[in-house]
Amino acid sequence: MKNSFTLVLFLLLSGSLLSQNAEIKIPDSYSNIIRKGENLYFKNPVNGRLAPQKVAHPFEQIQNLAVMPTGTKTGIDFDFKNSSFTGTIYYGLFSSQPQKYAYPVYFKKSAVIKNGKAEINLKETAGRYDIAGWEKTGQMKLGYRIVNARGVILYDGKINIKGKGPFTPDLTITEGPLVNILSENGAVISFETNKLCQPDIVVNGKKYNNPSETGLHHEIKLSGLEADKSYRYTVHYGNYSETYSFKTAPREGSRTAFTFAYASDSRKANGGGERNIYGVNAYILKRMAVLAAKEKAVFMQFTGDLINGYSSSIGQQRLEYANWKSTVEPYWHYMPFVIAPGNHEAFLKVFDNGSHYGISVDNFPFDNVSAEKVFADEFVNPQNGPTTEDGAYYDPDKKTTDFPSYKETAYYYVYDNIAMVILNSNYWYTPSVSQIPLTGGNPHAYIMDNQLEWLKKTLAKLQNDDRIDHIFVTLHTPAFPNAGHGGDDMWYHGNNQIRPWVNGKPVKKGIIERRDQFLNLLINQNPKVLALLCGDEHNYTRMLINDNTPRYPKGYKKPEVKLTRGLWQITNGSAGAPYYGLQKMPWTNFVKEYTTQHALMLFDVDGKKVTLRVINPDTFEKIETVVLTK
Ligand SMILES: [Fe+2]
Repeated sequence: MKNSFTLVLFLLLSGSLLSQNAEIKIPDSYSNIIRKGENLYFKNPVNGRLAPQKVAHPFEQIQNLAVMPTGTKTGIDFDFKNSSFTGTIYYGLFSSQPQKYAYPVYFKKSAVIKNGKAEINLKETAGRYDIAGWEKTGQMKLGYRIVNARGVILYDGKINIKGKGPFTPDLTITEGPLVNILSENGAVISFETNKLCQPDIVVNGKKYNNPSETGLHHEIKLSGLEADKSYRYTVHYGNYSETYSFKTAPREGSRTAFTFAYASDSRKANGGGERNIYGVNAYILKRMAVLAAKEKAVFMQFTGDLINGYSSSIGQQRLEYANWKSTVEPYWHYMPFVIAPGNHEAFLKVFDNGSHYGISVDNFPFDNVSAEKVFADEFVNPQNGPTTEDGAYYDPDKKTTDFPSYKETAYYYVYDNIAMVILNSNYWYTPSVSQIPLTGGNPHAYIMDNQLEWLKKTLAKLQNDDRIDHIFVTLHTPAFPNAGHGGDDMWYHGNNQIRPWVNGKPVKKGIIERRDQFLNLLINQNPKVLALLCGDEHNYTRMLINDNTPRYPKGYKKPEVKLTRGLWQITNGSAGAPYYGLQKMPWTNFVKEYTTQHALMLFDVDGKKVTLRVINPDTFEKIETVVLTK
């Protein structure tokens, strides 16, 4: 959730780094990050060398590409304010005929971008090409695709245009509407507009709006609806309206039959075309959404690595998020996509020490520019998760904010008789484990104390709730990596020394000890937990974890956890990121299914029975069907 004010602040921040730095408090949780004058540095504690902060300023940022065109007598002009930008704009009208999943149909001509400028002649879309009916109504919706000179698709936009010549770009929903936080009596509908406006949504004659909201980002809560019922909703904005529909969740515990979908890891890949719409493998991701809709999934859970990310430029990170959302948007009008973060959602403060990646830590001030805050601004998720790691025994100052907020990055929701518990296993993430003792930060896959405590309480509550038969726990990083991440996730070649460092000190528990605490909660203490859903590895891997699963390095000295039953760990990072092959791990014999095919998981829940169907969304080939038992 965000407000437009924060957006403006972000853009200002990226533009006036120096004056901002003078006011930024360096969190006490970090070490060896210092300020000299108005500049921030990493100071190498061994040789005293200073590495200055470095911010990337690529042209590929949302504010440089999602620009408002100007109207002309014959069409519209784009000015990207960059004389060296060359490329192509493909464009086409949206049909005026009713269509559930609407896309523009590209016109036979395209426009050249030269010296950062392009002209689109809309008069040419008259006559037999006028599928929008603009010659009669003076209204059209135009879709357009910006492609650079190397053929990389940078951004897909849409714009309402009025007039029959001259033409005038008008108020438009540029993103959404999207269905979020689905409940038995409503949902939160979110969308972005290109101009300030105060929209409302009408459902069954009742008007919903948010009078305090007059910005560009809109979130309108629909409530008081009946459970398990389809509703049409019409968004009214300016002189325009758009109608979609969604179905409320069944009453909790009513045990209707339903299907939900799961996948993760859709960041960009090789192969050209839509396999990289700047930062996103839109080709496979879209196929995932199409198959989920075809199978009537009631929601799709998507756990991490949506985008390429790892940026230090807010506009670049936001462009990638925008591309992810626009890829699945036609489906998200009707069913929720519930999003959790992974490592690629990292948004970093980078110090240039001459190395390729530099010294990188989660960006601060945490309240404005942490990866967690940027993520929370992009998605509309439940706010029922842990708060922060402030207050844990390792918190260096109980009075100040020394850690980012978990808000909207860890949370849970209930749908009928299942609960989905979402963890953020890249919280306060420092990408390089060798750098962690120097700067502080949390390694990939480590669940810190307050989040683990929240998980314990949340699972206990759901375990005791008679309406719930099955609990799914999802986080980006598998407990047991099998194909691509043998060197990290919750294993690190069995190196229990791996752990967060706070304020120059390591925390008490290492990664293997923490994994065991995690397994103890999921397996021993909460028998309703049916499966652990992960990603990070770009393939589909279904694995059984039980007491016979080898899970310790040779010579491990810490207490070992006994497991009282089996649990499925299902990793499905196959939504488009570059593939990984199977690795030889101590527990490889417990892998029951593995494929590098792109795979959508569909859970058919029917009371106590849960059947998992796995289908290739590109070819519709069936990968496996298995009844999941506890
Ligand atoms: Fe990942």
